Amino acid sequence: MITYFEETAAKTRALAGKDNVIILAVESSCDETAIAIVRNGRQVLANEIASQIDIHALYGGVVPEIASRMHVEALSPLYRNALKNADIGPQDIDAVAVTYGPGLVGALLTGVSFGKALAYGLGVPLIKVNHIEGHVSANFVADASLEPPFVCLVASGGHSHLVNVSEYGTYELLGHTVDDAAGEAFDKVARVLDIPYPGGPLLDKLAEEGDENRYTFPKMHTVNRYDFSFSGLKTAVINQAHSIRQAGGEIVAKDWAASFRKAVVDALLDKTLLAARDTGAKKLALAGGVAANRLLRRETLRRGEQVGLKVYMPPIGLCTDNAVMIGSAAYYRLKKGEISDLDLNAQPSIRLIEE
Ligand code: KG4
Ligand code: ZN
Repeated sequence: MITYFEETAAKTRALAGKDNVIILAVESSCDETAIAIVRNGRQVLANEIASQIDIHALYGGVVPEIASRMHVEALSPLYRNALKNADIGPQDIDAVAVTYGPGLVGALLTGVSFGKALAYGLGVPLIKVNHIEGHVSANFVADASLEPPFVCLVASGGHSHLVNVSEYGTYELLGHTVDDAAGEAFDKVARVLDIPYPGGPLLDKLAEEGDENRYTFPKMHTVNRYDFSFSGLKTAVINQAHSIRQAGGEIVAKDWAASFRKAVVDALLDKTLLAARDTGAKKLALAGGVAANRLLRRETLRRGEQVGLKVYMPPIGLCTDNAVMIGSAAYYRLKKGEISDLDLNAQPSIRLIEE
């Protein structure tokens, strides 16, 4: 008897000659449940997202058990909406993609189980996608002309990486954070300003009105030329706020937010532009939740173009977690014949590149 894997391996080879490859992608690594339908890795047919932020905000951060339960509830309705909005039927799906890590193990498992069941039921290939590779791939959807090689700054709530994307699916790690991720630093400093979780987007909004030169925060120091470190800056900013308040003073929230945002963005960009220059890159891309930051977007364009780089960034809606980016990454994995069997498991701590 022919096995699921043998059957889908044969289908994968047949898909190489197909003009229109339609991938249904599932993302459930953290607090967003998402299902998307993407054509040829670049064209969005459906992009469904159910955010859990309101619930987790009550607790000041993501509660893993709640996240898993909410994913289970959301997946089937999102699947039905995705098919409806893409105006296709299940028989039109050529392959199923799913995020298998990194992320919260219980949350990942809900998507992996759903993806496996769907792929098996439809008899189509199953493609596992690394969440960070997904973030990078959001750039392929945003600009159909983008092709590797390019340098990419991936900054999210859990990760801050500087990578050289030498070809589709091939990454060289240039630098990474040695402690907190950039988004994590935004979220923790936002708490000092009584901004609810997740603080990054609201801090960013507040900063737009503020004076970024009002407060001075320490510069980042790292051993490796392209590494990041946000823990020192974060602690200094939090301690400084406490000292001012203990002495009876007040901090001006919008100026505090603007000064902190500038410190983070300058640090991210100094390293990124250094790496781009040293590697002789011609293109620079942004990815991850922090790529939604308005100052980071403006400054990357301004400083990148100043040194002759072509700059790419996903639209704000594709910077934070979504399944479109997973469908895009999956297309290039499928083209290389990289498909999974039904023993696929969640890998909560998987890296983009083994270090
Ligand atoms: O990529 P993402 O949705 O989830 C992870 O994979 O971590 O990133 C979420 C992170 C959060 O820390 C959030 O505060 C941050 O991205 N973020 C921002 C902005 N929008 C989202 N940080 C700064 N400015 C923003 N506009
Ligand atoms: Zn993410």
